[in-house]
Amino acid sequence: MNEYRLAYDESIAHPDIFWGRVADSFTWKQRWSKVRSGDYHQVNYTWFDEAKLNITENCLDRHLLALGEQTAYIWEPNDPKEAVRHISYNDLHNMVCRLANGLSAMGVKKGDRVCIYMPMVPELAVSLLACARIGAIHSVVFGGFSAQAIADRVNDADCHWMITADGVYRGDKKLVLKSIVDEALERCPGVRNVVVLNHRNFDITMYPKRDIWWHDVIEHQSETHDAVAMDAEDPLFILYTSGSTGKPKGVLHTTAGYMVYAGYTFANVFQHQHDDIYWCTADIGWITGHSYMVYGPLLCGATSVLFEGVPSYPDWGRLWDVVDKHRVTIFYTAPTAIRALEAQGLEHFKGKSLSSLRVLGSVGEPINEEAWNWYHENVGHQRCPIVDTWWQTETGGILIAPLAGITPTKPSFATLPLPGVIPVLVDAQGNELLEKNAEGNLCIKQSWPGQARSVYGDHDRFISTYFATYKGLYFTGDGCRRDDDGYYRITGRVDDVINVSGHRIGTAEVENAIDEHENVYECAVVGIPHAIKGQCLFAFVACHHQPQNMTALSKEIHKLVSEKIGSFARPDYLCAVSGLPKTRSGKIMRRIIRKIAEGEPDKIGDITTLLNPEVVEEIKIKVAEVIKAPVS
Ligand code: PRX
Repeated sequence: MNEYRLAYDESIAHPDIFWGRVADSFTWKQRWSKVRSGDYHQVNYTWFDEAKLNITENCLDRHLLALGEQTAYIWEPNDPKEAVRHISYNDLHNMVCRLANGLSAMGVKKGDRVCIYMPMVPELAVSLLACARIGAIHSVVFGGFSAQAIADRVNDADCHWMITADGVYRGDKKLVLKSIVDEALERCPGVRNVVVLNHRNFDITMYPKRDIWWHDVIEHQSETHDAVAMDAEDPLFILYTSGSTGKPKGVLHTTAGYMVYAGYTFANVFQHQHDDIYWCTADIGWITGHSYMVYGPLLCGATSVLFEGVPSYPDWGRLWDVVDKHRVTIFYTAPTAIRALEAQGLEHFKGKSLSSLRVLGSVGEPINEEAWNWYHENVGHQRCPIVDTWWQTETGGILIAPLAGITPTKPSFATLPLPGVIPVLVDAQGNELLEKNAEGNLCIKQSWPGQARSVYGDHDRFISTYFATYKGLYFTGDGCRRDDDGYYRITGRVDDVINVSGHRIGTAEVENAIDEHENVYECAVVGIPHAIKGQCLFAFVACHHQPQNMTALSKEIHKLVSEKIGSFARPDYLCAVSGLPKTRSGKIMRRIIRKIAEGEPDKIGDITTLLNPEVVEEIKIKVAEVIKAPVS
């Protein structure tokens, strides 16, 4: 702990010395002239100016001499009876070089955007790395998103290339990814070529000229490739994420700072050792997968399990089977998975040893005390420290978390900031709360290397979303409590972002989808607590004609949300009302409907200033009926 305190103090007092030293442990083609530049007022911060590097040389080439034959990925297929694949650092290097050469031969160049929509297979990691190798900017779209959502993202980033696969089985569900891509690309005239991995031999359509098999792209390609020299601030990737308003934002991360931060935080938070077997259950389609399934672990020469399946298939003991089978030492998952397992009782632990585990991690949403204790006791056998890691797509890496086995933990607290991170709590007026024991909105005071640099194509939106609410501070969108020990506990979003099973969903996006229904003239979506998912969506609709059949309406709305976003964004509850409470200026008062939906109708406060206070009574009655008998 003393070492942490010293490192933290140095990182704040002398950030250039601190981060310069961390960066020295990586391989550079040219050294930086300055560690940090710019500030939050102009939102022009940069890291490691004038340095040149390629992140894949740091993930792969520099390990080959010592670790070439070490396994980089253990691929555990959806079906446990199918063969496991072991991909060594040499194999991964060969695969990345061949695809990099293949993509270059197709005409993909530095700065081009490549959209990736793939299942959890090693080739997904290879795709990210091959793009990074040639300087193309990858934009991964999670495999659960719909055709419309892919099209929106492809067009926003003006991607001319796509990489996908025929499809995948997740549990017993068959997903034909290629046909979803085909549908998406009807709306994307800019896409020239689609590289298709034949993963499951599904019967798919290959469009001549546009579609090329992965195996044809890499055929005859060399197993070596001269990695393109990237400037420190050249973009590395775009990752779309939801906010309070409007369409999802393409969060932009650049090369050097992201690399230094992903590598540093992986090594330190998990206290990674060379003989560890690390398993993060997140999909590579989200930021956790980018930073802690691909870049962070590879930068540290780690061996990771890459799991194609789901926790419930073929039964709820699957995760523990995988832990025992591969002797996993570090296990990193989301509270939703923990709560879902907890709800199954203890039967699924029967015959499972879990004795290899050393460290447990949690990410993506607040972990409640009960789930924390269950995890600690039943998975960690009270022996494994839990690192509750708080961070975001925008932060690139973990900002607040214990260091495994070093920081004393407290259930449901993400504990202390990592070196270089200065969290502050502010009140609604933007005053910094200086006393230790306080609760407010969580902001960060100065830049760290892994911080996002912009929203792709819209820097003004980046500034207005994160830097306009509180001048000179990065606003996270989260509420937070700090206790007498200076420990931080994240309480959840304070904006209109809802965290369902760790998936970040913007209410505006779901409302736009529901608004497409011909009978709906107005709607509002709020998040309410859910025992397993953390939060779930509660949708209110006002209809032109009183719906005759709520089950049918609910199905139609589910279909719309699945088509526009993906099935993970479907509301759990649907309530038809004659109108929504509004202010005199016409703004929907979500606070009121949220309180009613949360089952606290007495806490809605004063409604006399509403334009239409009469709807409130009706909403209370309708919500009570819906909760008793949800139609969805
Ligand atoms: O509300 C916080 C929650 O997830 C949000 C970020 O979501 P996303 O960008 O999708 O990244 C998720 C993976 C890093 C945050 O604003 N969140 C994330 N981790 C935690 C958390 N809330 C509480 N505790 C955490 N450990």
